[in-house]
Amino acid sequence: MTALHNSTQTKESDRQGRPLLEAKGLFKSYGKVEAVSGVDFSLAENSYVTLLGPSGCGKTSILRMIGGFEDVTSGALVLDNVRMDHIPAAKRPINTVFQNYALFPHLSVAENVAFGLSYQNVPKSEISKRALDALKTVRMDALADRRPRQLSGGQQQRVALARAIVNAPRLLLLDEPLSALDRRMRKDMQIELKELQRRLGMTFLHVTHDQEEAFALSDWIIVMHDGRIEQQGRPEEIYACPSTAYVADFIGGATCVFGEVVEREGDKVVIDTPIGRHLVPGVSTLSTGAPAALCLRPEQLTLAKAGIAAHVKSCVFRGSDWIIECEAADQVMQVVVGVNPPAQGALVHVHFDPDRAWVAAASRGDL
Ligand SMILES: Nc1ncnc2c1ncn2[C@@H]1O[C@H](COP(=O)(O)OP(=O)(O)OP(=O)(O)O)[C@@H](O)[C@H]1O
Ligand SMILES: [Mg+2]
Repeated sequence: MTALHNSTQTKESDRQGRPLLEAKGLFKSYGKVEAVSGVDFSLAENSYVTLLGPSGCGKTSILRMIGGFEDVTSGALVLDNVRMDHIPAAKRPINTVFQNYALFPHLSVAENVAFGLSYQNVPKSEISKRALDALKTVRMDALADRRPRQLSGGQQQRVALARAIVNAPRLLLLDEPLSALDRRMRKDMQIELKELQRRLGMTFLHVTHDQEEAFALSDWIIVMHDGRIEQQGRPEEIYACPSTAYVADFIGGATCVFGEVVEREGDKVVIDTPIGRHLVPGVSTLSTGAPAALCLRPEQLTLAKAGIAAHVKSCVFRGSDWIIECEAADQVMQVVVGVNPPAQGALVHVHFDPDRAWVAAASRGDL
């Protein structure tokens, strides 16, 4: 196995920090719909974790069970080694930031932030000081007297954040908190969120369907598919060593060439594919005869004098480079080219370093 693949292998037990929250065999059904089908994960204290997956895979359901807004169908939620699935939402040291901010329109920014504290026996003199401190944390103290409608989307999101951290929860849940913002604002807020989590030393669990956002923020990513966890790990590990073709495609859009394992050689496998037989590092559980996917990232492929013969299908200029789609044996591969892109229809040779590629598990249906 290459140094890259080696250095990115982590076990759950290697993670820093003890677990703040553990989900054990968590299920959620709504009548006949099974939204969450038995998930296990833990959130390390003082970490930024994202729950990543496409629409409908059960992300919000998991968040709502942790927040206490939805009953657990079966399984357990454990906070600091104590079962918490029967503790009412208001008694959990957990707050949620919603996608639509959910601010009170008739209250000022400061009143919005102070609102929750007035129900928690906090002395009146303390309330406004703590609300102001929370607003300073998100750089919104200067606008404390405005109403929500007098703020931009990004500013409203900061107020919602201040409101969620004002009573110092142990865990902050964020459900697609940046999806209403434009691209530029989203990037800025990603940096701010990460910085805020570090500074406060809280644990953040952030739901998103955007893999770039997950990479930008996370210490740990949980990739979901159809109510189940497909893979979890550090971002670099998930990118370099996806366990399945689904993860390889969903994270960073790898080209997956499907085939079959013909032999195992230590950490590597020999895979037979329509673009040839290759000896490549791969998932350790793959055995001879298993369906598998050769995962090739655009940046791992180059055009060379020799290699896999392919025809150029398209060539898209991206500013700093071109992305070329090449077809060989009915497989379409994307190659990044810095200068002199080939013409459409040209015959090229696609080269890759087998040690930098990866073989992930596939199912028979993929072949
Ligand atoms: N209250 C409900 N009643 C019935 N079905 C529900 C309910 N809430 C969610 N579902 C279903 O459960 C599944 C998971 O929904 P969930 O909202 O958890 O997905 P999600 O990953 O958050 O999706 P999105 O990215 O679109 O927000 C979906 O099939 C959804 O239709
Ligand atoms: Mg959702």
